[in-house]
Amino acid sequence: MDMSAQKKARWGVAASLLCAGWVSAGEKLSEPHLNVVPRATQEQVRIDAILQPPTDFSKPEVFEVLSAGAATVSRRMDGQVFSRHAENLPENQRLDFELGRAMFEKLWVASPSSTRASDGLGPFYHARSCGSCHVNDGRGFAGTDGLLIRVSVPDGDGGTMPHPTYGGQLQHKALSGMQAEFQLGIRYDEGSVALAGGESADLRVPSYDLDLRQGPLGDGAMISARVAPAMIGLGLLEAIPSETILALADPEDANNDGISGRANVVTSAEYGVPMLGRFGHKATLPTVSEQAAAAFSADLGLSTPLFPWHWGDCTEVQQDCRTAPHGGDPEREGLEVDSRAMGVVALYSRNLGVPARARVDDPEVLRGKELFHVSGCVGCHTPKHVTHRLDGGGTGSFQLIWPYTDLLLHDMGDGLADGRPDGLATGREWRTAPLWGLGLVAQAGGQQGYLHDGRARTVLEAVLWHGGEAGPAKEKVVAMPPEDRAALLAFLESL
Ligand code: HEC
Ligand code: HEC
Repeated sequence: MDMSAQKKARWGVAASLLCAGWVSAGEKLSEPHLNVVPRATQEQVRIDAILQPPTDFSKPEVFEVLSAGAATVSRRMDGQVFSRHAENLPENQRLDFELGRAMFEKLWVASPSSTRASDGLGPFYHARSCGSCHVNDGRGFAGTDGLLIRVSVPDGDGGTMPHPTYGGQLQHKALSGMQAEFQLGIRYDEGSVALAGGESADLRVPSYDLDLRQGPLGDGAMISARVAPAMIGLGLLEAIPSETILALADPEDANNDGISGRANVVTSAEYGVPMLGRFGHKATLPTVSEQAAAAFSADLGLSTPLFPWHWGDCTEVQQDCRTAPHGGDPEREGLEVDSRAMGVVALYSRNLGVPARARVDDPEVLRGKELFHVSGCVGCHTPKHVTHRLDGGGTGSFQLIWPYTDLLLHDMGDGLADGRPDGLATGREWRTAPLWGLGLVAQAGGQQGYLHDGRARTVLEAVLWHGGEAGPAKEKVVAMPPEDRAALLAFLESL
């Protein structure tokens, strides 16, 4: 594939949809990744009834404890709390799931090497395994490999494209004999927010020192720091009907609630059609397998059937990188990660179970849940969805799930803006983060860290960073009496 095809594949924005404006309710996007069994009218009526918001907060809703329906796993408090396969994963897929886990945890090495099945890393790369960023299948943290820096420049046509020298991502590692693209330093400025009831919270504002080794980025270059999100429940997020998401979108804020919500629509590299973006902090990728293939390429420098070039994110300018030895193997389709290996990684990535809720009937948690509803958090963090019924079943088929996201983009204000558009997402918009598993972040990762760049050290800090469309909801949290704020946090920790 030449550079322009590579660029298009990685930077695939549905140009026609961009011109036409935002897609919204009533429109349809194709879902070639799923074998959808259409819903009968009767079934839709039942689903609409189940999805009604609660009116009684004195007890939990039916099935609320099962965050991922039949795919829910037990909330066992150990480091592997995010690492178990979905409870309903069929027996005959469990071996492939474990093979997928081995690929996810595998430490790749430089090529040539005696371990032919594990070579081909880089030449430029960010980490040696998927698992070094998605720690214990959970999220990554600022100050570790789990945070990466995206980069782009204006394409002169109103859009953006990868940087001509550095590509789409700055790589802080390189094979021996080559110079990594940069080293990262993070500085934090501390500020304090006063809360009602005499409380206060400290917020830290990150700034990034880029020690660039291949020349300055130049005028107009834009960067975005991102931490790896948790890997749980992704097959379920992939199976929420696009219509459901588009019905929640309100691009012009027609209902005047101050919350718009827009869908990112991207051209799928795998299917070549416009699809709903669901994955990544700006919802830039439509499927789990496409996101996983993009990670092999950009983060590890490994070729897959979808992105078959061996040099990962190296640009035409970086010829030494492009011509370095690689791990492409004739016995593996000439690739470093062949279709079989890619298949098991995708299976693994789709089927990590979501732990059950904690304290679901505890009065303080129920009070917090009520505050979550009345404060307007549910305007974006949509509590529950019913996934598509899929032909042939599968762990994601027809489940009532509680991810607390609309998968839409929202303007979150200046404080969180990265100023770097991504697909249809502007430099102020982020995808509503799913909140399931929120109370288990430290359990899996050994530390806390929230928001797209891990700046928030506690859940409360994450909430206090909300601005833009989420400003009014944040203000309610600031103004709450301390015992209400504690109840809201108890609810969030129970997810
Ligand atoms: C350098 C750290 C890093 C490595 C290595 C890495 N990831 Fe990620 N991963 C990220 C970041 C950062 C994001 C969010 C990307 C964005 O916002 O566009 C992400 C997002 C994802 C998502 C989407 C999750 C969601 O909720 O949106 C999946 C799936 C994923 N990665 C799978 C993988 C797989 C599979 C591998 C190994 C082939 C891998 N990742 C390797 C950092 C990493
Ligand atoms: C206008 C939409 C919107 C509203 C309203 C909103 N949020 Fe969010 N929330 C988001 C988005 C978008 C993100 C991701 C922001 C980022 O990563 O920078 C997020 C992130 C979070 C996170 C961090 C999640 C993580 O994984 O790091 C928490 C916690 C959270 N929200 C709680 C709340 C609570 C509590 C409320 C109500 C007081 C609320 N949100 C209201 C859109 C919203």
